[in-house]
Amino acid sequence: MSRIRLVKHAPGAPGLRLLGLGPRFLPSRGILKLKQLLDKHAFWAKGRTKKQIRLSLASSTVVISLWRGNRMVGFGRATSDGIYRAVLWDIVVAGDLQGLGLGRDVIEALVSSKALKDVERIYLMTTNSAEFYLQLGFQECHSQNLLVIRNEQA
Ligand SMILES: CC(C)(COP(=O)(O)OP(=O)(O)OC[C@H]1O[C@@H](n2cnc3c(N)ncnc32)[C@H](O)[C@@H]1OP(=O)(O)O)[C@@H](O)C(=O)NCCC(=O)NCCS
Repeated sequence: MSRIRLVKHAPGAPGLRLLGLGPRFLPSRGILKLKQLLDKHAFWAKGRTKKQIRLSLASSTVVISLWRGNRMVGFGRATSDGIYRAVLWDIVVAGDLQGLGLGRDVIEALVSSKALKDVERIYLMTTNSAEFYLQLGFQECHSQNLLVIRNEQA
């Protein structure tokens, strides 16, 4: 397999968000590539516009992307207050490269990042990939409920 590059973006991912930068700070149409990755492999994020994706990046504390050449093949981001709580979002690996350890690389890069490494608790919501996270040290939480309020205008 050709080399996979892991990019640790600055908080808010300004290079990716504003200039579409990928590995080695090269212009890579990164927002379009991220949209395509989410549309194809992340059912919860299908149909997000490039503008919405940019907004989500702007408010993200940690952003990680994986590249194989000029193709974005993995992604993950986290939001955090830097001390008490963090939440992981939009963890995804391209279908043809799943099962090769790339998802693990994304999670490890997020959790070990400067902004998250000292945070007390890291949360994560998943519909069908709990087994993946259990292997990485996450634990099911039975003492708390997940509650949601939906914004019908959004
Ligand atoms: C979930 C996902 C990110 C995992 O990435 P990946 O690159 O396939 O996972 P890895 O190869 O790093 O797997 C790490 C370990 O977890 C296991 N694993 C991965 N996905 C699994 C799953 N769905 N169920 C059970 N085990 C799983 C792997 O077998 C591997 O174990 P090993 O180290 O003993 O071999 C990826 O499959 C994906 O993008 N799925 C579609 C989007 C999605 O559902 N994302 C999760 C949103 S919360």
